[in-house]
Amino acid sequence: MTTTPSPARAGVAPGGLPLLGHAWQLHARPLEFLSSLPAHGDLVRIGMGPWPAYVVCRPDAAHQMLTDSRTFDKGGPFFDKARVLFGSSLPMAPWREHRWQRRQMQPAFQPGRIEGYAVVMGEEVNRMTTSWRPGQRLDVTAALTTLTLRIVTRSVLAAEAEDSAVAEVLESLHTVIDGIYQRVMLPLGPLYRLPTKANRRYRRACTRLHRAIDAIIAERRAKPGEHDLVSMLLNAHDDDTGEPMSDEDVRDQLMVMIGAGFETTANTLAFALWLISQDTGVRERLHAEVDATLAGRTATPADLDGLAHTQRIIHEVMRMYPAGWFFTRVTTADTTLAGHPLPKGTALLYSAYLLHHQPDLFPDPERFDPDRWAATEVDALPRGAHVPFGGGNRKCIGDQFALTEMTLALATVCARWELTPDPEATLRVRVRGTLGPGPLHMTCTARNTPAGTEASG
Ligand code: HEM
Repeated sequence: MTTTPSPARAGVAPGGLPLLGHAWQLHARPLEFLSSLPAHGDLVRIGMGPWPAYVVCRPDAAHQMLTDSRTFDKGGPFFDKARVLFGSSLPMAPWREHRWQRRQMQPAFQPGRIEGYAVVMGEEVNRMTTSWRPGQRLDVTAALTTLTLRIVTRSVLAAEAEDSAVAEVLESLHTVIDGIYQRVMLPLGPLYRLPTKANRRYRRACTRLHRAIDAIIAERRAKPGEHDLVSMLLNAHDDDTGEPMSDEDVRDQLMVMIGAGFETTANTLAFALWLISQDTGVRERLHAEVDATLAGRTATPADLDGLAHTQRIIHEVMRMYPAGWFFTRVTTADTTLAGHPLPKGTALLYSAYLLHHQPDLFPDPERFDPDRWAATEVDALPRGAHVPFGGGNRKCIGDQFALTEMTLALATVCARWELTPDPEATLRVRVRGTLGPGPLHMTCTARNTPAGTEASG
């Protein structure tokens, strides 16, 4: 017999201030603040500055919201600020436009295409792991950010590593992303137009980034490819008007795709290396698995079946530290969410971090336990409980790309190297646009290294 869940209980978060709402709590200790909310209800009202928003604290409500993307459309206060900077690209587009855009881009992420991207992933992971030396101390977050940025840039632009446009994108993107984050979180309007050093650096980086991507677009217009994302976007025509996408729209889509696809995967991998370094049991099983499957060579998709423990580690890291930690929606009509009435225009916020740390869904949620992801445990989870990639038709388009990339990278790194943090190091979670560990220094000890590299010494 199935039981109907009780209607969601609405509540109000304590400690809100006039005009500021809960801006301070969201800024100063966002994860603790979000984790405290389920104690106040299933849909908890907070103030994002002067704007009220409901935080969704129950998985069935999160599932309903994510799967009815027409009623619960993209929107909300932070989102509207981001839209000014990202245009109407895929993550920003409202429901109708989004459906069309997603149809154009989805073929670039079909399972058959991931195999091709895996070649780039292998080349880049090999490049990184063979450049390390025994005893070298490195910031693994920075190294992994370079790795994933190179992978996603080459994959999205279908460009070779030596392509000058790739080098240009790698150079300017960090500055652009940091500048955008600042402009979304701290909207100081005209102050960003002043000729300060930081504003000039940001504008210069934007110009260089635009120029590099425009060069790729022009080249692909002259010599169309068959299946790459740039060519797909250039060939797309509006269903109603027959109009193609403008070069500017194509550029926005490509920039947003690259922007969404590197910090997320780099941070997840960096958290994984930290958590593995802290747990001897998990580490020994991982080493046994990668030694048996890879014996020091670069992992390929054909190895995935032999990397079950590695994949569970990735799932558990994304549960504990979901890189995309909060997103907003807005109701486009009067509706109900998990039985609770909401008027049109209500802002909603969902946080994978909040849902993934609820003890009734994930017992002892602060414990790193990859075995939670054994098939039987996963089957018992309610829908909407584990949402590192969101859900419904706005679910991350790069989910399979990311899972493949992270599994192949983690397996290859750990097959070749053991990475040990400084003795006194502690994990400091950095909450920005994505959740990350910030700089994380570790020392390399060689394990199995491929023949012909100096690392075997
Ligand atoms: C660990 C890695 C990643 C995580 C945790 C992640 C997380 C997410 C989440 C939670 C969403 C949904 C946001 C919402 O509900 O509003 C999303 C959307 C998106 N992601 Fe990812 N992502 C990852 C990697 C990637 C990669 C590698 C790419 C591109 C190659 C990518 C491109 C996108 C795009 C374009 C969207 C918007 C999809 C749409 O609205 O249709 N992501 N991602």
